[in-house]
Amino acid sequence: MLKKIAWHKDLNSLVKSSGLLGFLVAFFVLQSETLLAQSMDNIVPANIQNPVPATQESVRAGAQLFSRACATCHGLDARGSEFETEIADPGPKPPNLIDAQWDYGSTDGEIFWNVSNGIYPYMDKYGDTYQEKQIWNIINYLRSISTSD
Ligand code: HEC
Repeated sequence: MLKKIAWHKDLNSLVKSSGLLGFLVAFFVLQSETLLAQSMDNIVPANIQNPVPATQESVRAGAQLFSRACATCHGLDARGSEFETEIADPGPKPPNLIDAQWDYGSTDGEIFWNVSNGIYPYMDKYGDTYQEKQIWNIINYLRSISTSD
């Protein structure tokens, strides 16, 4: 009998403490989600630094991925194409990505942001499909064949 009471007591305190634990977990999850949302809002694409050194390996990997994922629209030589998106008629033409003209931002960070998030509705977001490193490789490749200084 004594044992039973002790067991009940244990259970009771377990329920109480797990209730508290649950509350704490919920509290921290909520808290960190708000923090995450805030930090997403605070991202300034121009301030994102390219963390991948432009090694031969990176440039080569970027060239391969570019020819697979981007060349159909932007051209194999990345100089853009006359192709018009079917979404709007006439839609914007896929621009040259190696000259000095950028409509959405010219820094590595801005290009990374645009490629990751896409340009709705004309260009998919590639942040879901490719790893960040792969996108930086593409940027290193584009820089390596850039015609602007
Ligand atoms: C379905 C065709 C299509 C594909 C595939 C595509 N793009 Fe684009 N991209 C476009 C179009 C169209 C625009 C111009 C959108 C606009 O002007 O509103 C654009 C714009 C861009 C821009 C912004 C250029 C600027 O002037 O600021 C970048 C950077 C870019 N694309 C990179 C890429 C990369 C890298 C890939 C491959 C991972 C890719 N795109 C794949 C159609 C495409």
